[in-house]
Amino acid sequence: MKLLKTLFVLAPLAVVAASALVVTGAYDVAADTPHWPATYCVIEFARTRSVAARAADVVVPDLDDPALLRSGAGNYAAMCVSCHLSPADQEETELSLGLYPRPPRWDALGAVEPRIAFWTIKHGIKASGMPAWGRSMDDRYLWGMVAFLRQLPGMSAERYRAAIAASPGHSHGGGETDVGGGDPHAPQATSAPRSSFEPVDDPMSAPAPAQEHDDHHH
Ligand code: HEC
Repeated sequence: MKLLKTLFVLAPLAVVAASALVVTGAYDVAADTPHWPATYCVIEFARTRSVAARAADVVVPDLDDPALLRSGAGNYAAMCVSCHLSPADQEETELSLGLYPRPPRWDALGAVEPRIAFWTIKHGIKASGMPAWGRSMDDRYLWGMVAFLRQLPGMSAERYRAAIAASPGHSHGGGETDVGGGDPHAPQATSAPRSSFEPVDDPMSAPAPAQEHDDHHH
């Protein structure tokens, strides 16, 4: 009984304290100061539970399918490297350095359970930098990246570059393109693998070179 009474007194006090923290602006939302360890633990636990619960029913395709792997390589290079880096891009970028939570590195991504990886890539993670790629890409392209991620741990820069070169490139498939699983005769394959890096296709690519800027102004 005594315990219950104490709880009844303490619970409203905790709510008042938490509200004061929010209302006064004392809670720091800056990305360059870490969460308190307790806050971090709660968020991390909530994310893990939330994704696991939602990913449980996801049906995993054959992740050794060469066509899937080929498509995944080009898409990873086009859309993920700026945050998650790669065997050939080990230097931190402005995004990988500045985001909080920090994006896990490529080798860590490769160890993520495929259902979890797929769900996260498709739906993204709120209030982190991780976008919901399912908004613009068909599932098969997302699975391509999951398949490719699994190959990343231990991959050399040379093998990584070879995989990207052999990939049909960057394919969205969200209705704007229809690409038959890395078919070399598919329309989009006529643009070389590097087409993925064109600013118009890749929201994450580096700003257009100065020369292109000039074109717009003349
Ligand atoms: C703008 C930065 C950014 C880009 C671009 C990005 N991610 Fe992420 N990603 C993140 C961040 C940040 C997290 C960690 C989120 C968290 O911990 O709450 C994350 C998490 C993940 C996870 C979950 C890891 C785990 O341990 O559960 C996977 C898988 C992933 N990203 C794959 C990708 C793939 C594939 C792409 C490219 C299509 C991509 N990401 C593009 C920032 C990014």
